Amino acid sequence: MSNRKIVIDPITRIEGHLRIEVEVNEENVVTEAWASGQLFRGIEIILKGRDPRDVGLIAQRICGVCTNVHYRASISSVEDAYGIIIPQNAEIIRNLVTLALFVQDHIIHYYHLHSLDFVDITSALEADCSKAVKMAQQYHENPYRNSEGHLESVKEKLSSFVKAGRLGLFANGYWGHDTYRLTPEENLVHMNHYLEALRIQHDISKAIAIFAGKTPHPQNLVVGGVTSVVDMLNPQRLNDFMFLIKETRDFLERAYIPDMKMIVKAYGASIKEGEGRGNGNFLCCGGYRFGSKEQLFEGGVITGHNFDQIEPFDSSKITEEVSRAWYENDDPTSPYDQETIPFYTDLNEDGTLKSEGKYSWIKAPRYEGKVMEVGPVARMIVGVVKNSKVIKPYMDRFMHETGMKLIDFSTSIGRNAARAVEAQICCDYLFDFMSDLIENIKYYDEETWTKYVFEELSTTAKGAGIFEVPRGVLSHFIRIKEAKVANYQVVAPTTWNASPKDGLGQRGLYEEALIGVKIVDPSRPLEVLRVIHSFDPCLACAVHVIDLKGRELAQYKISTV
Ligand code: MG
Ligand code: NI
Repeated sequence: MSNRKIVIDPITRIEGHLRIEVEVNEENVVTEAWASGQLFRGIEIILKGRDPRDVGLIAQRICGVCTNVHYRASISSVEDAYGIIIPQNAEIIRNLVTLALFVQDHIIHYYHLHSLDFVDITSALEADCSKAVKMAQQYHENPYRNSEGHLESVKEKLSSFVKAGRLGLFANGYWGHDTYRLTPEENLVHMNHYLEALRIQHDISKAIAIFAGKTPHPQNLVVGGVTSVVDMLNPQRLNDFMFLIKETRDFLERAYIPDMKMIVKAYGASIKEGEGRGNGNFLCCGGYRFGSKEQLFEGGVITGHNFDQIEPFDSSKITEEVSRAWYENDDPTSPYDQETIPFYTDLNEDGTLKSEGKYSWIKAPRYEGKVMEVGPVARMIVGVVKNSKVIKPYMDRFMHETGMKLIDFSTSIGRNAARAVEAQICCDYLFDFMSDLIENIKYYDEETWTKYVFEELSTTAKGAGIFEVPRGVLSHFIRIKEAKVANYQVVAPTTWNASPKDGLGQRGLYEEALIGVKIVDPSRPLEVLRVIHSFDPCLACAVHVIDLKGRELAQYKISTV
């Protein structure tokens, strides 16, 4: 029997439209894979010709989830081009908002977008609540909302959904799949925290909006600083922010981290088999330093899982190319010179992607020509390898308590573990940034904006805003001519991880991570979802483009062939 293709389109529980095709052999093991971004958007084109002071507000529309980080990277690219240094308070307020977003994104990603790949909601209905209370105590001395009465109420809530035939967003899960590993009690404890996380993520939105005005699509950044002056000087507002973050920290300590330890234990075999492992190339730009303190994230580049060697990150080594993506001009170029000219080519007659030709709206970023993985796992591994005083103690503790090794993080489960540890680190660091802010204000440093006169700035400039953001390294590159945007290019974290193959035939990370994965039941390819979801895909970010003519570019069907 020849190899068969399994198509999943769209992959659900992500932001945006992603199609995955895998080829499997007789044993249902993946031998080849194609990841395809299925929408053309076009924000890079829309930004051309704009006033550079306006680009932040437009660029944040790249994504409805990652609004703050595009806004910030965009404004920073303009500040970099003009050499504008923002005041310390502005930097801290930007950091408070971005790090709160890290924590919120990670909680939503794990509980609401990914956990049901590991947690079988129908099994939770079989749980013995008093056993569940004791089970949870193995992972924390005081687990989050862990009374028998509360767990009974969670079970009742779930069973009322099922009885009424109103599974709603739980309707299309692969419930009862052979590869679910948690006991009914473990499933119930997870579902309890799934529901609690809905409230927590909502609370973090409130915290973000204290400085950002609103969220998503914040309003508080301008070239030169921030506008959150009144909030910054109001002790009640600072207190409200910290109260919400404290609540969140409690959830991370007593729910998210213990739940992740439970997953690592239950899915230990998947970790040891290296399910979802990429090519071992990790890229971090580092960042979030304040004053003389340690920076939160270290920068560095690791290749081929060689943890004994690390190179410094150099943004000039980033290129993008489109030989397998639906754009013109195939050669790799620096993002400053990269163009965005759509060039859609057909699919195969049966509607599947061309195995040899162009097949995605996502471009292929490379670092010195190499495919790189970005995200929490890259940051945690680089942090450990560089002996970061911030990251290493958290990672050491998690590894000690779970028995995980550094290489184990380069797997589907490992990416999740790294993300959970990172959420905790970011949350704790928020307290440091807040005390820095209060310290400044105490000494009458109330500056939030660096004054400049636009007409006096150079009319020709170029700059970049490069940041670690929840899903990995985000970079915005701007070229300004005659005081207008001449070229604008974004390389988003998901563009790195979800890229298609390139001119050298190198697979993107999603594709690489799928090779060798065994699919127990090809009509219910849960294993593929586990690998892809572990990257926390954000496809809107990856393609940053809409079809201006409203043409149908693809049909969306949830099917397997
Ligand atoms: Mg781009
Ligand atoms: Ni996004």
